[in-house]
Amino acid sequence: MCGIFAYTGSKNKDAVEVLLEGLSSLEYRGYDSAGIYTPESGVVKTPGAVGALRGKVPKSFTGKSGISHLRWATHGAPTEKNAHPHHGGKEDIWLVHNGIVENFRELKERLTKKGHTFFSESDTEVLAHLIEEYLRSEKNFEKAVFKALGEVRGTYGLAIQYAKEPEKLIAARMGSPIVLGVGNGEHFIASDASPILKHTKKVLFLNDGEVAVLTPTSHAVYKLSQKRVRRNPEELSWGAEEAQKGGYEHFMLKEIMEAPDVVSNTLRGRLIQKKGMAKLGGLESVAKKLSHIERIIIVGCGTAYYAGLIGEYMLEEFAGIPVEVELASEFRYRSPVLNQRTALIAVSQSGETIDTLEAVREGKRKGALTLGIVNTVGSTIARETDAGVYNHAGPEVGVASTKALVSQLTTLALFTLFFGRARKLSPKKGAEIARELAALPKKLETVLKKEKEMAKLAKKYAHMRDFLFIGRKYNYPVALEGALKLKEVSYVHAEGYGAGEMKHGPIAMIDQEFPTFALTPRDSVYEKNVSNVHELKARKGLVIALATEGDKSIAKLADDVVYVPKTLEMLQPILNLIPLQLFAYYVAIQKGLNPDRPRNLAKSVTVE
Ligand code: M6R
Repeated sequence: MCGIFAYTGSKNKDAVEVLLEGLSSLEYRGYDSAGIYTPESGVVKTPGAVGALRGKVPKSFTGKSGISHLRWATHGAPTEKNAHPHHGGKEDIWLVHNGIVENFRELKERLTKKGHTFFSESDTEVLAHLIEEYLRSEKNFEKAVFKALGEVRGTYGLAIQYAKEPEKLIAARMGSPIVLGVGNGEHFIASDASPILKHTKKVLFLNDGEVAVLTPTSHAVYKLSQKRVRRNPEELSWGAEEAQKGGYEHFMLKEIMEAPDVVSNTLRGRLIQKKGMAKLGGLESVAKKLSHIERIIIVGCGTAYYAGLIGEYMLEEFAGIPVEVELASEFRYRSPVLNQRTALIAVSQSGETIDTLEAVREGKRKGALTLGIVNTVGSTIARETDAGVYNHAGPEVGVASTKALVSQLTTLALFTLFFGRARKLSPKKGAEIARELAALPKKLETVLKKEKEMAKLAKKYAHMRDFLFIGRKYNYPVALEGALKLKEVSYVHAEGYGAGEMKHGPIAMIDQEFPTFALTPRDSVYEKNVSNVHELKARKGLVIALATEGDKSIAKLADDVVYVPKTLEMLQPILNLIPLQLFAYYVAIQKGLNPDRPRNLAKSVTVE
């Protein structure tokens, strides 16, 4: 995800070095271009790494204050032109931005009519022009910023500078984190505390809808209404690495905890709730071809493959299209029968998994329409597919895929609305799905409150050598994923099975030493799942049931119950996944393992 770092100081510190060093400590976030601005020397931007930016900054480039940025492309390719900082027409308002300006097109159109010329494809640039426009009438930097922010729809974390008041920085937050660093005769703005901690431990976290005005010796926080907010800075005891992890012990836990934001970000600007439709801009260029599609093949590896399996249930049930899901690593070795009426959807967090990429190439060779559900902008799969939709989950650092899966399933639900409403899905059902999708972030927050409960459960079961995960219908792939997560981070032998398959073999393994995680939400297959739990208990198996809130009867049967709020059956996997991810994480912790770095595994599998 993009990173922001800005500095204003009155000491004899070189702002340029402070900013470049700060950017280096934000590199862990993942990015594709970098840039720096100081009022004294202007701007330097480049695609690529902070090292490339450093190499491009001339020795004569100085400053006492400035703003800098690492960009992770969302609107527009990762080029020098689209990199931040961006400026208005007069090149005196400069800003760096994390987030998405949803109404940038309408703002851009209005400003263009007023004579503004735009230099990039980025949604961010419109903010600089908007502030500039208000500066003309208000003749005051702060007021112009307040007025402009009042018009923005979407999310932002911002650091803004006006060349004519070089000591002053303005920060603002709406949905994208901003931390202020309070130093001695110097102030900092950053997207997380990691670049600040080297300079000061005194920080102030902005809340949504707050704006801060900083000079080297002062800071003041306001609400968007311009009402002053009085809040004292807090003292952080974190080290730089903890700051990168947002105070969590591991990236895996941090990324599990991000689930509500991930769903919001994936849905942002794509859900037309009242009409029960999804607007997927990334598919517009192939709209005509999509209308002729008669069959979908989803390919992926590991967790991404399981996302595809859940997508299959969604798309077949609500869009009425035949769907097949293939392990990309097998698909490429078969002789798949494809044609122009087949859409091949590649699901990949990294966009670099070699087997998935080769499956896309095979699909292309055979004339299929290739689509991507990819998290990493500009990755090879994103580039090589005919069209696609980005997940907007932000970079996933932990090797175990957690938040990426949440975003993949959310995207597949959007695909279901997209294809479904063009086919058999009624507006009423579409609206119901859209409503439930929009309600997911709140429900995810409730599930995440189970963290301590899952830690306790992990402690109780961590000594077990084997685990069975079972689920049916939408929750069958969730069982597969639960087993994979446990295996990869805690090295406990785990098997995932469709609950109906249990009697066809795996039940032979069950005894007091072989517990089962049974996914038993109150859905269309509830009774059948309960029968499986009875069968397990009859063999003295230990059962942890994952059940719907309020289901008291299952508690009489299972040894432990984890309750999850109810949503639509097709969306239930998004909630059910979370306790399983937390369970795997805490079993790893119990065993003294580092879940961020499981042995033998790489984040991106670019070799066969
Ligand atoms: O980057 P991708 O989504 O293409 O990666 C696919 C798999 O390698 C990945 O999901 C893997 O299974 C993870 N380690 C699961 O946690």
